[in-house]
Amino acid sequence: MSSPQVLSAALPADAPVAEPARRATEIAEFGEAVLSGLARHPRSIPSRFLYDAVGSALFEDITRLQEYYPTRTETALLEAHGAGIAALSGDVRVLVEFGSGSSRKTGLLIDALTNLDTYVPIDVSEAFLVEAAKRLMAQHDGLTVRPLVGDFTRPHTLDGTPHGDRLGFFSGSTIGNLTHEEAHGFLENAAQLLGPDSAFLVGVDLKKSLDILIPAYEDDGGVTASFSLNLLTRINRDLDGDFDTTRFAHVALYNADKGRIEIYLESLTDQDVQVLGQTFSFTKGERIHTENSHKYSVPEFQTLAEDAGWTPVKVWTDEAQLFSLHLMRRA
Ligand code: SAH
Ligand code: AVI
Repeated sequence: MSSPQVLSAALPADAPVAEPARRATEIAEFGEAVLSGLARHPRSIPSRFLYDAVGSALFEDITRLQEYYPTRTETALLEAHGAGIAALSGDVRVLVEFGSGSSRKTGLLIDALTNLDTYVPIDVSEAFLVEAAKRLMAQHDGLTVRPLVGDFTRPHTLDGTPHGDRLGFFSGSTIGNLTHEEAHGFLENAAQLLGPDSAFLVGVDLKKSLDILIPAYEDDGGVTASFSLNLLTRINRDLDGDFDTTRFAHVALYNADKGRIEIYLESLTDQDVQVLGQTFSFTKGERIHTENSHKYSVPEFQTLAEDAGWTPVKVWTDEAQLFSLHLMRRA
């Protein structure tokens, strides 16, 4: 995805899904990332490629798991504090959401922002983005929805959306999927995109006991494992790969030094795998690093955000101190 593209000025009911030129670019970028990621040691593939249509649907399944506390905890915080968040956010006309996914929690924010006229969801998962945008348009009379398909870590502009106070929304602790350095760059780009006088609401998963953390990424029903392994299925489909998904296992561990969950796909045997005509040899136990999920204390995240040009306004957390919602303003 070379640069993000607005799908349509205001989404028509029959908005196209995966326009062919964009699909070709996406597959070329996926191919480059996979070939270079499998050639390096340790092997790694960027986590944004987990989200094709199947991956996005599997992530939605994860959000409903008993073990996966972040979604229901953040939803409860938005239900309890939506009005307070809106009151502190200014006269918001444009809501920009990064990694919007199903946009299910966003309805709570849209309802609370009484003068909102435009919603800009940004996501790499195009089919999912279009479906969510259509649903929100149907549910919120008079709201203009301008979906933008692209990588939110790359700088872009909001040409064509009305000026006025903008609120950014980055939910689900997706910021935790970025390294500290990437998160810093992302927050700087977001400040640029949202402009002067903007506010930013970021959902951030808190550091906590491993008894709670590990099962959230290694559920008993194996849904998170299916989500991880779908990356190999996507490689087989889009990049002419021959991964045998039964010969790789999902592994989630906590790296205390880096304050993050790390997710890997581990080879269960010595094996050769083909991708785009190239052979990659795995030894038993060798891993592909597919995801990080950083956890932050409240002060750790505030320091990161302040270094990137955002001033803390208020933080909401749940009683059990599982999750935090940070409202910030442009410094
Ligand atoms: N915000 C939603 C979805 C979180 S899942 C929630 O809280 O439930 C993460 C979302 O970010 C997915 O929809 C995925 O497609 C998207 N995503 C991940 N990396 C991305 C990137 N680099 N650029 C744009 N979207 C990305
Ligand atoms: C989207 N993101 C914040 C999820 C997380 O918790 O890091 C992705 C995820 N991966 C496995 N389970 C959930």
